[in-house]
Amino acid sequence: MENNFDLVVIGAGPGGYVCAIRATQLGLKTACVESNKTLGGTCLNVGCIPSKSLLSSSEKYHKAQKEFNNLGIESSSIKLNLSKMMDNKDKSVLTLTKGVEYLLRKNKIVHLKGKGSISAKNTVTVTDHSGKKVSYKAKNIVIGTGSVPTSLPGIKIDGKIIVSSTEALSFKKVPKKLIVIGGGYIGLELSSVWKRLGSDVIVIEFLDHIIPGMDKDISTEFFKILNKQGIHFKLDTKVTGINLVKNKAVVDFTNNKSAKRERVECDKVLVAVGRKSNIGEDIIKLGIKLDNQKKIQVNKKFETSIKNIYAIGDVINKGPMLAHKAEDEGIAVAEIIAGQAGHVNYNVIPAVIYTSPEVAMVGKTEEQLKKENIKYKVGKFPFLANSRAKINSETEGFVKIIADEKTDKVLGVSMISAMAGTMIAELALAMEFGASAEDIARTCHAHPTHSEAVKEAAMAVDKRPIHF
Ligand code: NAI
Repeated sequence: MENNFDLVVIGAGPGGYVCAIRATQLGLKTACVESNKTLGGTCLNVGCIPSKSLLSSSEKYHKAQKEFNNLGIESSSIKLNLSKMMDNKDKSVLTLTKGVEYLLRKNKIVHLKGKGSISAKNTVTVTDHSGKKVSYKAKNIVIGTGSVPTSLPGIKIDGKIIVSSTEALSFKKVPKKLIVIGGGYIGLELSSVWKRLGSDVIVIEFLDHIIPGMDKDISTEFFKILNKQGIHFKLDTKVTGINLVKNKAVVDFTNNKSAKRERVECDKVLVAVGRKSNIGEDIIKLGIKLDNQKKIQVNKKFETSIKNIYAIGDVINKGPMLAHKAEDEGIAVAEIIAGQAGHVNYNVIPAVIYTSPEVAMVGKTEEQLKKENIKYKVGKFPFLANSRAKINSETEGFVKIIADEKTDKVLGVSMISAMAGTMIAELALAMEFGASAEDIARTCHAHPTHSEAVKEAAMAVDKRPIHF
């Protein structure tokens, strides 16, 4: 086999495989190393894709049970077949991971199977499942090894009762009582899934609000919506210990303000308090510089502290841990290695929580702008006043557009809506082109669509919404 490459990418997640494809498009002789049996990294195997499959199926189940009747769709026996739902999820994952294999083949990327490590400056050694090692020369190396779940001090994820998102995507039966530690992306998406399927869910969040980093208005509204859906919350609360008793977990927690202590027994505990960069021993040995959170430090060109070794995605000290951010970095770094001007605009990276309704944002929040002393104006429009949302019974949520007070340039958009994850793309494009709120207000939006709320929010920036 060829063992001399222009580029070896370590990791075939959304960052790594996309980087390898772009590199071959640019004429670089490229290999991509992956230790997992299937390609696609966390996103395809145990992250975005399986969670969205369960979110979609569980939402349909919930609607069939609770809402179809109101629409004149009557059925007397809606039943959950969890193992079939899981099979469907696994099939989706398999199809998509096979799709990545096909893309690597189609682009003539050499797929190296095994664990890749950088054994010397321009050498990647791949250890396959039988332990056999083969070394490859690489003019350039891109590290795209992603991230792994973290836990809390003193709490060990056993994968059975105390679980990470990986196991919570494959429970064999619906836990009667589920405690979720962390009210962030993973915590809230998986709380939604299991609540809809019948679990009694309590989310314990250390801060006094959920989804830190999102606009406070959004976080407050979303909190109300999730409460209404029956998810229980313990905010401003610290988990002090978990004991396993028979097949249950006993969770102790204390309110940060009142110091009130509580103890709850449950069937499963999902620890969703963030993820940490997946740093191999090779990186430590080579002395590649890390920041104080143990993420690889890179410069604007994604170069690490060692020449010709680059890094992208969750493993680096830039931007949010999101699959689409990693993809864009994969493209940019391949272009940079090929001598082009690859670039990622970190100000315009959309973020979406795929609950029902969905939550999405791009750009800055009101809190960030206040902190940065930037003067702004705000336009808001509720879905209660949007005709399509009304006929679809999807009136929860609103669009909030923040524009520069003087120039009217859009600085950030946040929204809660059944369609937020799709609608946010319009705003990302608008911001990428430096649009003003007036540009959006003057753009014709199809009727009746949820997107009209975006136009109305843009008009509300100038205090002239039509339907509210
Ligand atoms: P996260 O950072 O979104 O949320 C973690 C939450 O745990 C925060 O609210 C934090 O305040 C809380 N927390 C931290 N320590 C705590 C403690 N001791 N007790 C109680 N609460 C505590 O992390 P999450 O949800 O684990 O997700 C990891 C990464 O995966 C994130 O960067 C996220 O962006 C990404 N992700 C993205 C998704 C999407 O795009 N829809 C879906 C799932 C994950």
